[in-house]
Amino acid sequence: MQVVSISSLKGGVGKTSVTLGLASAALNQGISTLVVDLDPHADATTGLGVEPGTSRPIGELLRNPRKGSIDEAATRSSWALRQERRQPRTPARLDVAQGSALTGYFDRPDLRVRDLRRLSRVLSTSRQYELVLIDCPPSLSGLTRMAWFASHGVTLVAEPSLFSVAGTERSMRALELFRRDFDTPLSTVGVVANRYRETSPEHAFRLAELRTMFGDQLLTPVVPETPNWQQIQGAAHAVNHWPGDAATETAKVFDGLLRTIRASLPTN
Ligand SMILES: Nc1ncnc2c1ncn2[C@@H]1O[C@H](COP(=O)(O)OP(=O)(O)O)[C@@H](O)[C@H]1O
Ligand SMILES: [Mg+2]
Repeated sequence: MQVVSISSLKGGVGKTSVTLGLASAALNQGISTLVVDLDPHADATTGLGVEPGTSRPIGELLRNPRKGSIDEAATRSSWALRQERRQPRTPARLDVAQGSALTGYFDRPDLRVRDLRRLSRVLSTSRQYELVLIDCPPSLSGLTRMAWFASHGVTLVAEPSLFSVAGTERSMRALELFRRDFDTPLSTVGVVANRYRETSPEHAFRLAELRTMFGDQLLTPVVPETPNWQQIQGAAHAVNHWPGDAATETAKVFDGLLRTIRASLPTN
């Protein structure tokens, strides 16, 4: 099982969108996947076509890791049902550990190591996934650190804007401190530049800045600003299933990014 956190210090840069894009690519590539929705907003849960509150949320499992397993609590994404209708012979597994306000309880800066291990413990009982994608909240507080503790790698998300570039550098430093403090082999699986507009000189400038700062860690291809992205998310569809050239192009980008990310993570 490969576990990867999708994080950033800043909100609104596209963590949930990148998580969902990667989940769509995983479905397309036939990889059995669990999305852990750690953000109390539960946007990933909604985006995956699951009504929050229809199964035990991840927050409840974190509070009582011994009561029930993640494999039982996880809910099937409506994307998987749609995928099976498209390709009836290939079983598709894409589940979500539902987000809820309950996780907010752990979003504190003062969690003890015992508490930081809670998500690792919950995931350690799972037997059915090749890939776990953790959608983190927009802070580097308790929940994100809990996610990092449970992960093999972290992918940071940045927008080509001044504040996001600065925030990504701070996140990178926080990751280094985390590795040092807890002596974990957690790897940085790159920075995804999201919402890139080709026609914007400012975006070109900030992308060049990201390249200078992070070198090879800036993952390619970059994710373009996709005109109907909000419509796709609003309809709770996988980008792979959405018609039109723009969605097809973005789906290809996520297919490539998922391959790159998985190739740099250990295989079990
Ligand atoms: N590549 C993209 N193209 C167009 N809109 C995007 C893209 N990525 C994100 N968005 C939009 O930006 C907003 C914030 O994205 P979101 O994924 O919710 O960020 P976060 O999870 O970091 O808070 C959402 O309305 C989303 O639809
Ligand atoms: Mg989000």
